[in-house]
Amino acid sequence: MSNPASPPAVGVLDERPGLTFPPGFLWGAATAAYQIEGAAAEDGRTPSIWDTFSHTDGRVVAGHTGDVACDHYHRLGDDVALMAELGLKSYRFSVSWPRVQPGGTGAANPQGLDFYRRLVDELLAHGIEPWLTLYHWDLPQPLEDAGGWPARDTAARFADYTTLVADALGDRVRYWTTLNEPWCSAFLGYGSGAHAPGRSNGAHAVRAGHHLMLGHGLAVQALRAARPSAEVGVTVNLYPVDPASDAPGDVDAARRIDGLANRFFLDPLLRGSYPEDLVADLSTVTDFDHVRDGDLATIATPLDLVGINYYSRHVVAAPVEGAEPEPYWRAPSCWPGSEDVRFVTRGVPVTDMNWEIDAPGLVETLRRVHDEYTDLPLYVTENGSAFVDTVVDGEVDDVDRLAYFDAHLRAAHEAINAGVPLRGYFAWSLMDNFEWAWGYTKRFGMIHVDYDTQVRIPKSSARWYASVIRRNGLAAQ
Ligand code: FCB
Repeated sequence: MSNPASPPAVGVLDERPGLTFPPGFLWGAATAAYQIEGAAAEDGRTPSIWDTFSHTDGRVVAGHTGDVACDHYHRLGDDVALMAELGLKSYRFSVSWPRVQPGGTGAANPQGLDFYRRLVDELLAHGIEPWLTLYHWDLPQPLEDAGGWPARDTAARFADYTTLVADALGDRVRYWTTLNEPWCSAFLGYGSGAHAPGRSNGAHAVRAGHHLMLGHGLAVQALRAARPSAEVGVTVNLYPVDPASDAPGDVDAARRIDGLANRFFLDPLLRGSYPEDLVADLSTVTDFDHVRDGDLATIATPLDLVGINYYSRHVVAAPVEGAEPEPYWRAPSCWPGSEDVRFVTRGVPVTDMNWEIDAPGLVETLRRVHDEYTDLPLYVTENGSAFVDTVVDGEVDDVDRLAYFDAHLRAAHEAINAGVPLRGYFAWSLMDNFEWAWGYTKRFGMIHVDYDTQVRIPKSSARWYASVIRRNGLAAQ
């Protein structure tokens, strides 16, 4: 692995050829329930781990919560109308588990299911294909109180919940994602504690990762039983991981982080096994005694597609003897057993999240999954960037975000030319929203949201994306 050429400078769109995507390419935008819905205590919804976490002092920047968020729960009609104006072919949203099954066990909440029925019907009425994610991080709090994802039973509860949703919506939703980014749920939720439920224990994080994948496998089976025609996948967040140099210590650091970030999930899901080197790396953390006979076969239940979220690249270096490890993002570490690996910044342009902009990394990521793991259709289920936006005369000219999308769509096209069966792309995000531990301080939307008035303003990137969808590709520049 070597460092890629520097990505194109953000904000500078030089001369580039027009590009056309394959017919039927699924152009979409994505959101998640807790990030946009609000209505946290309405119509029978009960708290998830994110309600508890965001209401705990010091967990989310400025004490922000998802209580109101974008108030999408009450504005679904207007929001779908905006999607239609953009010409979206598909909309990826998530179902809030505690809205449709308060408490995480037992019967469905009809009012909760009704909200999603109305959403899906509205989408279909506008010719927009609904893409449903079952779990975008909002575990019902009582299930966390019973042990959360480190507890095996949570996987079975997830399968039961899946059946409720499939029975209610399976007749009108074709595309299903089980989990969104299990790495974040496991390693940020139970490793670093930067995400809900905010626990910090490496062994628990590893167990959580396993039970999330077990829950995924059981959910795939539940979906197939309820709706044999469903197109089912999972979404993983992947990063190319490069060593800072060819020195053996740096190369080994990259192998370790690649194991935890990428192969921890790709190998069980698509090959039915954990990588041996990863198990060895984690030997001081866990003996994997939580893995039972048959689990890996369940986890590797065949899929119809794979979703990939791509944002950036990691560059890492060997630990420095005697030095306090610099935590990645926030202490404690989200890299159990490899806490001392150093994360290196290259000085290339970054987004407002401080994530390095690296469009070539998307080509690498897509090619890797296709070349090393699967022939299944791939979808970019999230890709996007946070930048500081300013409203001037009722407009938001977000040239940096637009350039980010442009560069990554060119990368997506390059991957298709290289033979990757990439079938669709979902911009993150449709609109500004609650960015987890960062609250409302980071804006990822193509549509600006004023959180005081709930006024929506399509940014320049939204208008540009609409033109991309119309021509099924990028114009020459
Ligand atoms: C991903 C999440 C999504 C959003 C983006 C910026 O990790 O899936 O909800 O927060 O990052």
